Amino acid sequence: MIFTVAIDGPAAAGKGTIGRAVADRFGFRHLDTGLLYRAVGVIGGDPVAAARALRPEDLARDDLRTLQAGQAASRVAAIPEVRAALLDFQRRFARAEGGAVLDGRDIGTVICPEAEVKLYVTASPEVRAHRRWLEVGGDEARVLAEVKERDARDMGRADAPLKPAADAVLIDTSAMGIDEAVAAACAVVADRLPPR
Ligand code: C5P
Repeated sequence: MIFTVAIDGPAAAGKGTIGRAVADRFGFRHLDTGLLYRAVGVIGGDPVAAARALRPEDLARDDLRTLQAGQAASRVAAIPEVRAALLDFQRRFARAEGGAVLDGRDIGTVICPEAEVKLYVTASPEVRAHRRWLEVGGDEARVLAEVKERDARDMGRADAPLKPAADAVLIDTSAMGIDEAVAAACAVVADRLPPR
């Protein structure tokens, strides 16, 4: 079965948690596409060359989750040649046999417009910044400023800007716990699965 769940939305909205839970529940593979851009940002040098030479082990680096890596990712992600270099890998992952969940910014709009399920997971900037601050610590006001800066860059770029696909189901997790958000996502997927 070829079945793609595309999960898009801004930073710290809960896409990763929901994506992993949906993949576990339905036995699909999961790709956090933000790691591709984070790795390119962290490797440094010429970002286009880094994207073209990216290897699976680069995605396992332990320095990809920091605020700095997020900012570096969002800068290299605005370069069309970087996005182009990462496209085929993501498309193949999405349409390989067995079902796949991809989370990112442009999965439902650019990488896999034919996805069987498209979710747009969001939450208020304050709620997202608070969640990120619980993970990384430091000054919460600075984390909020970084979240807003990254939102503006990701939504404002010319190539593959962050926006909901026209046919995406919106899940606002501002006032939801993890279980509730996962249940909402799983309900949409269960509803669209082909009968077996
Ligand atoms: O999701 P995450 O915070 O790891 O993504 C880091 C950055 O990578 C985002 O801010 C965005 O600029 C970029 N990204 C993207 N397209 C994706 C996934 C991530 O442009 N599909």
